[in-house]
Amino acid sequence: MKKTCIIGSGYVGLVSGACFAELGNKVILIDNDAKKIKALKNNQVPIYEPGLDKLLKKNKSRISFSTNINEGILNSDIIFICVGTPPREDGSADLSSVERVATEIARNMNGYKLIVDKSTVPVETGEWVKTTIERNMAKKTPFDVASNPEFLREGTAIHDFLNPDRVVIGVSSKEAERILTELYKPLKAPIVVTDIKSAELIKHASNSFLAMKISFINSVANVCEKVGADVTKVAEGMGMDKRIGKTFLNAGPGFGGFCFPKDLEAFYWISKKLGYNFGILQEVKKVNEDQKKLIAKKIEDALWIIKDKTIAFLGLAFKPNTDDMRMAPSIDIINILHKKGAIIKAYDPESMGKAKTDMPFVKYCKNPLEVCKDADCVVLMTEWEEFKNLDFKKIRSIVKQPILIDTRNYYNPQTMKQLGYIYKGVGR
Ligand code: UDX
Repeated sequence: MKKTCIIGSGYVGLVSGACFAELGNKVILIDNDAKKIKALKNNQVPIYEPGLDKLLKKNKSRISFSTNINEGILNSDIIFICVGTPPREDGSADLSSVERVATEIARNMNGYKLIVDKSTVPVETGEWVKTTIERNMAKKTPFDVASNPEFLREGTAIHDFLNPDRVVIGVSSKEAERILTELYKPLKAPIVVTDIKSAELIKHASNSFLAMKISFINSVANVCEKVGADVTKVAEGMGMDKRIGKTFLNAGPGFGGFCFPKDLEAFYWISKKLGYNFGILQEVKKVNEDQKKLIAKKIEDALWIIKDKTIAFLGLAFKPNTDDMRMAPSIDIINILHKKGAIIKAYDPESMGKAKTDMPFVKYCKNPLEVCKDADCVVLMTEWEEFKNLDFKKIRSIVKQPILIDTRNYYNPQTMKQLGYIYKGVGR
């Protein structure tokens, strides 16, 4: 059993804390948001992530919550930095929270500590954390800094943590390597041990590569549409080549969420700062922005005149099993249509609460049937399981016009055409 402290009880911190406790470790979760800590102490989880509440409850005896960072530092041997690194206006990562935490750690160390960065940070942050600690130390105390990036997907984060393809550990000492290898041993996953800078780069490079795969297939989809080919078949044929792989080749409305857009931007920015123009990343971003405009155009083309038409959105979140609306493609698409005078209705199983903040003008509905009623066009935006087997025969009888825009290629085009829909997918 290791004594761990997680500084930053956001998405990454909470999932990691719950999972480290599940592996038998003692965990202190810290956050400076008193409201959040109070809620967590009362078994209320501030984010929607399937299974997280149960896992926190199950391991309650090994988990404690506090707003007091010193308490966490004093009572643990391994300190994980899981604070936010939000994008600044120029796209670079704002590392002020990381610096603040490093300074606090330096001032309160009471013996050897292993300080591990889990937040997504640009390369060379580990070095800065080390320098910051050395500069602010109250008295000389031994410590190590390590990088241990996370690869958690929202909606499957607990599964991803407990069943990783690999664990990446960036270290500069044998002791740090030993401690982290032991901590992750129960997962029985391959462990990649590298220097700190390489570990930091693995995170940015992995996310940017996945984003590139999506923009690539979306570009292929656009060519498919021009010649009447089927992108799902092209992706299937490509993906069977093991060097390419099947995943992340689903054409759609473009990637969203907090990670891909932010990491892409930050990776471009840090490369530029280091004197390298990583042009591919700019193009990946451009294709993604254009894809949202193309979907809005597809809707407009199907309706001819947008003004005063009712458009029904099935799903709003950037992907299923999350309530996260950050950078969701639905926001850009809906805003384009709204500006042109469309009446927007929407239903999402989880994200409507958050969507209301960005899009107060949308009429939010209680279920799929209510949203589709009297619609001139139905748009499948997020591939929630709940939408898989909708009664499209019934929906056909309640819509004003049978136009179905399937931005995720979720439905069978033939079936929809047989039911009388004008069906439009992406790239097929
Ligand atoms: C991502 C990474 O996968 C994860 O490793 C990292 O730690 C955080 O960022 P997440 O943002 O939760 O995870 O979502 P992910 O499942 O990767 O999907 C991201 C976006 O890409 C979604 O908008 C999704 O709809 C889109 N996507 C994904 C596609 O459009 N096509 C695909 O084939 C796959």
